[in-house]
Amino acid sequence: MRADAAPSLVVRWSVPAPTAPGDLRARRAAGRLASRAALAEAIEAWRAAFGDAPWQRAPVVHDAAGAPRFDHPESPPIALAHTAGLGGAAIAMPGVRAAGIDAEPVDAPGAHALRRLAEGTGEAALAWGDAHWPLRLWCAKEAAVKAERAPADLLGRSLRIEGVEQATASGEQRVHVRSHLGNAISVCTAVAGAHVRAWTE
Ligand SMILES: CC(C)(COP(=O)(O)OP(=O)(O)OC[C@H]1O[C@@H](n2cnc3c(N)ncnc32)[C@H](O)[C@@H]1OP(=O)(O)O)[C@@H](O)C(=O)NCCC(=O)NCCS
Repeated sequence: MRADAAPSLVVRWSVPAPTAPGDLRARRAAGRLASRAALAEAIEAWRAAFGDAPWQRAPVVHDAAGAPRFDHPESPPIALAHTAGLGGAAIAMPGVRAAGIDAEPVDAPGAHALRRLAEGTGEAALAWGDAHWPLRLWCAKEAAVKAERAPADLLGRSLRIEGVEQATASGEQRVHVRSHLGNAISVCTAVAGAHVRAWTE
């Protein structure tokens, strides 16, 4: 959360256990597990801030589109993400109606293609301010897709970055996304360690 934004999500991140180089299946499983470890931490933080709730003991299930929730009628919106070297989880604070997070390694191989796509749409011309902007763009769109709980097109062309704000001294940059469902979604992006991270505000 940026210092000038109202808090909306409890977000936690977790580093997966190391796996054998090239074993993509093991890497994915470790990432998924890390996202669940992050979720357990987020539940504890939510409980410390807002108190006990019955959904805190419910398992995670997915709807038909793959979107996660606690298997309880009072489940707050939640979001999960896992990538090489990082898992993450978010739980919406009371009264917040959506949650989306995403992360990608700063050296993700698709960054070059994202840059070229954004040059075609005009999104590259926004006042991004650092070399990680293609992944900020991507993670912001993925976080918006998760907040909407509805799949978009593969390359994210149906979402549009409508504006970016100046980054804070700590490198957090707010990005304004028009989602594939037409909603305006504000996303905070940050470069932390070896990853670009994003979470909806
Ligand atoms: C849904 C989607 C965003 C998930 O992203 P991903 O990069 O495949 O995987 P991540 O590790 O970031 O996230 C995985 C988690 O997303 C969640 N998820 C899956 N489908 C979801 C959906 N429709 N809505 C919300 N969350 C969803 C799940 O919790 C999943 O983890 P789990 O299966 O372990 O519970 C992606 O599969 C997708 O549909 N992309 C479409 C392309 C797109 O819209 N791109 C926009 C960016 S430009």
